[in-house]
Amino acid sequence: MKQLLCGLILANVYLVVGASLAPPASSSPSSSLQSKVSLLEFSNFGFTGYYHLVKSLNHPSSKSCTCELDQAPSPFAGYTAPLDEPLSVHFRGPMTLNKFAAYTSHNFVVGQTSSNDTWSRMAFYDASSQSAENVTFLTAAGADSPCLGKALTYAAADGISKAKKRTKLRKDAKLISNQEFSIFSNVSCKSSRLGNDCGVYRKGIPAYHGFSGAVKMFTFEFTMPTETSAPKSVANYDMPAIWLLNAHIPRTSQYSKNPNCSCWRSGCGEFDIFEVKNGSTEVNNLYATIHDYQGTGEIETGLQVPGYIARDTSGTMRGGVAFDSKGKAVVWMSLSTAFDPKILASDVNKWISLAGSGQTKQLLSVSATVSKAGSLAKKNNGALFSAASLTNQIMVTVASVLAWIL
Ligand SMILES: *[C@@H]1O[C@H](CO)[C@@H](O)[C@H](O)[C@H]1NC(C)=O
Ligand SMILES: *[C@@H]1O[C@H](CO)[C@@H](O)[C@H](O)[C@H]1NC(C)=O
Ligand SMILES: *[C@@H]1O[C@H](CO)[C@@H](O)[C@H](O)[C@H]1NC(C)=O
Ligand SMILES: *[C@@H]1O[C@H](CO)[C@@H](O)[C@H](O)[C@H]1NC(C)=O
Ligand SMILES: *[C@@H]1O[C@H](CO)[C@@H](O)[C@H](O)[C@H]1NC(C)=O
Repeated sequence: MKQLLCGLILANVYLVVGASLAPPASSSPSSSLQSKVSLLEFSNFGFTGYYHLVKSLNHPSSKSCTCELDQAPSPFAGYTAPLDEPLSVHFRGPMTLNKFAAYTSHNFVVGQTSSNDTWSRMAFYDASSQSAENVTFLTAAGADSPCLGKALTYAAADGISKAKKRTKLRKDAKLISNQEFSIFSNVSCKSSRLGNDCGVYRKGIPAYHGFSGAVKMFTFEFTMPTETSAPKSVANYDMPAIWLLNAHIPRTSQYSKNPNCSCWRSGCGEFDIFEVKNGSTEVNNLYATIHDYQGTGEIETGLQVPGYIARDTSGTMRGGVAFDSKGKAVVWMSLSTAFDPKILASDVNKWISLAGSGQTKQLLSVSATVSKAGSLAKKNNGALFSAASLTNQIMVTVASVLAWIL
């Protein structure tokens, strides 16, 4: 989403690719890391560490505005951490969102088909029926600030203009390149203060909680048609994306050059679900990337699953992401994806396994093992987060199921 996501992926010198390969299927295409798939998977996901919350946002409208981080670390631990924290959901055009749902479950496990666990829906939006439960649409249409960028406001029905109160997106609301809206829950934040439910947030914004729960799932129905109206000169031209942020980030500043204006830089977490990362060479390839300090000091690059899901520019896509209770995060694209109030764990596992094998000729697992991360942190900004990274000398495995299309 936000940072310079240049193409430095598994060729990254810090990654030792293939150090612990799962047995590849015979005649697997071992030389190719980027393959078209409909399932992207991270394993060993979630770790113990900490980040720094924003303590103050000073004089946001002034040229000399500054931000200050809390010196005390905010610790996190456990499977899916730090993405076990409340998350906001972000959309960038060209795109139309038809359906959205957010779920939690107790102990969903990817691949455990015998599970009787159930996912419960906590939020829902359906453009065609105009149903909306527990969702708040926000967009950055507020006052500009030299250090914070534009403030969040309620989004109007078009998704991008400012509204005075909570408004449902209208059915045909279409984002063009570089336009964005986000979805939060409808639970309001208490006052902006370190230690309160939402911590410090930008003054005057409609401040809402993200979607909570360690075991989470988000499902989407959307289109990402090729850009036809935005000027070519616009940033992120024809590079649609759907991603998750630790909800602290947008409530202070989503796009700031000053790393003290949000908890992003210190690693509070971003997960890109479906993202076009190169608008010239890979405009129809959707990647999944985690940006935190698990197994890397390169937060801007993050760790990306070495495979992509095809962007269907003429049809409607359905897919989602699930964070399970055993350290897996999976992204899939499948028309079976549902939006019902209750979904059986076994059904989600069915979508996942169908996505993994439906169009598949052969499966191959690739592991990327990262050695010491702590020493890498200095490259970015030692003072700010080297301590956080020291707790992060752990191994991360990025596994992908690479499907070879016949
Ligand atoms: C897209 O890929 C091309 C070819 O690899 C590269 O030259 C260009 O810098 C990339 N653009 C971005 C934004 O990463
Ligand atoms: C689900 O399975 C667990 C363990 O097998 C069992 O204890 C529980 O009663 C089951 N729940 C339902 C709703 O069937
Ligand atoms: C939040 O959403 C839930 C579910 O739709 C609804 O029951 C509740 O009244 C809403 N609360 C507010 C403050 O809008
Ligand atoms: C709305 O979402 C919030 C954040 O996940 C959650 O705490 C709350 O229980 C949800 N409300 C309903 C009615 O599900
Ligand atoms: C961020 O905060 C640190 C620690 O207070 C400070 O040294 C640094 O100058 C700040 N950076 C910016 C860009 O304000």
